[in-house]
Amino acid sequence: MRRKIAAGNWKMNGTSAALSELDTLAQSHTHSDCTIVICPPAPLLFRACEITVATPVSIGAQDCHGEVKGAFTGDISAEMVADTGATHVIVGHSERRDAYNERNRDVRNKAEAARAAGLCAILCIGESLEDREASNTLDIIAGQLSGSVPEDITADTLVIAYEPIWAIGTGKVPTLEQIVQVHDFIRTQLCTRFGAETGASISLLYGGSVKASNAAEIFKAENVDGALVGGASLKAEDFSPIITALNAS
Ligand code: PGA
Repeated sequence: MRRKIAAGNWKMNGTSAALSELDTLAQSHTHSDCTIVICPPAPLLFRACEITVATPVSIGAQDCHGEVKGAFTGDISAEMVADTGATHVIVGHSERRDAYNERNRDVRNKAEAARAAGLCAILCIGESLEDREASNTLDIIAGQLSGSVPEDITADTLVIAYEPIWAIGTGKVPTLEQIVQVHDFIRTQLCTRFGAETGASISLLYGGSVKASNAAEIFKAENVDGALVGGASLKAEDFSPIITALNAS
């Protein structure tokens, strides 16, 4: 049985006032069959962990550095993330691949650093609209998987999030058929590289304009084990029905 995960990525949104959303979320889901993860901005990590301790809500960071420590002004290491009490970290989000020129090799280093610090990496991959229109989606996905997924993976240390870049924050969602095609492809690639048992154990999340109104439909796909949600994770009242839909799937 693969772990189902509802992960929220707050991106650069929210100050300490937003922490009350975590309280509301934790109170709405005193029990959850799926793992709930919220990734707030780094300055909120410590307090977010305090608020959600002994609740089904876990906390994650949105990025970490690939090195253990050193002269990297402004960066945070995986160990620092773990030290806050966080259990997860997003790596390789397309916004970072784009704005900070993160390459597959960098993302792989971050996933390895996360594992070494005892964190579960939520590793993001996904094609651009240009790639999609040129029918290059599966080639891009294959390249990102082979380049950014580390050698040594387990279900506890790695989750993959498929996020078509053209669907992020745009309200455009791929058809269920398109999601199924990519998720099935990722599953096959993982099984080929890591063996059937490990390949089948890794949770695959879909991300890109997931909201309460489309979540249940997306969760119907066999190889969709949850979602990575941006905009609709900022408010507990928007994220809660997505968690409920995942628990019901
Ligand atoms: P969105 O963002 O749900 O706002 O489209 C998803 C993401 O970037 O993870």
